[in-house]
Amino acid sequence: MKVTSILPFLIAVSASCLHGTSLMPRAADGTVDVNSFNYTNTGGPMVWYGLDSANSACSKGKHQSPIDIVTEDIDYASANSVHFHVPSADNAKFENLGSGLEVVLTNGTLVTKTGSYKLAQFHFHTPSEHRINEEHYPMEAHFVFETACMYTNKDNSKFITDLSPAGSIAVVAFLFELSQFGYSTPLFDSVFAHIDDIATPGTYTMTDALDFTGITQHLNSHGIYQYTGSLTTPPCTEEVAWYISTEPLPLNVQSYNAVKHVLKFNARYTQNALGQDNLIEIAASEVN
Ligand SMILES: *[C@@H]1O[C@H](CO)[C@@H](O)[C@H](O)[C@H]1NC(C)=O
Ligand SMILES: *[C@@H]1O[C@H](CO)[C@@H](O)[C@H](O)[C@H]1NC(C)=O
Ligand SMILES: [Zn+2]
Repeated sequence: MKVTSILPFLIAVSASCLHGTSLMPRAADGTVDVNSFNYTNTGGPMVWYGLDSANSACSKGKHQSPIDIVTEDIDYASANSVHFHVPSADNAKFENLGSGLEVVLTNGTLVTKTGSYKLAQFHFHTPSEHRINEEHYPMEAHFVFETACMYTNKDNSKFITDLSPAGSIAVVAFLFELSQFGYSTPLFDSVFAHIDDIATPGTYTMTDALDFTGITQHLNSHGIYQYTGSLTTPPCTEEVAWYISTEPLPLNVQSYNAVKHVLKFNARYTQNALGQDNLIEIAASEVN
């Protein structure tokens, strides 16, 4: 079959493409590992740096996310340069990690000018992490992708070999706005259908069937803010390529309240403008 004929070519091109590791370590079957960081008191974003020596970028990085997006200054992805594709799934695991709610789904690809990526998971923040001209939104979804080695088959379909160990990360983000007409986004109604079952950190449930065509069309038919920042959670790794739809998705009030009830509060505070000193370093020097 095609795959075997492609592999030798890929090995020749880039040996580093094979045998990658996943960004997020997964718990053993049947359990969900709860993250040690959180958004409250001594587990919160002000002290993530001290939780683990791997978290130094959280307090020292100068390209940290989230940011306040100033629409007059931010870059926009050029038309048709962001190719987001996630095939429909019958269902997916939906986990409460304590620090957030995450859907584990790896069948998905992202191809942009910065690279080719494979989906790792998607998750939610309430309230939004990014702000647009200082305004925050009730919720934000992050589709996290990792660098993959991708080959285009003759029929134009994409074939992914594996994650790259020297991997970089890209995130496609959607903001949400409450609909005064009760409109919502069907994909996320399916994700949140059984959210009451995972009110306790460390638990998981299964989503209903997931169809990504609606949000893909939404992404393709509006502008996309683009910048290079970081993960918004420990270890706050930089060189993350962000792609944020300029147009929020609709969310109905019932879903919002149900999500907020379980997710509570998990937005990192707004970081300093890109390239400027980390706010924690500035604050620390002011105190001393
Ligand atoms: C947040 O994390 C800190 C430090 O690990 C812990 O002491 C605290 O109980 C956690 N709080 C919540 C609400 O999970
Ligand atoms: C992901 O793709 C593989 C290969 O095409 C397929 O076998 C599998 O069922 C898909 N998984 C989901 C959750 O759709
Ligand atoms: Zn996130």
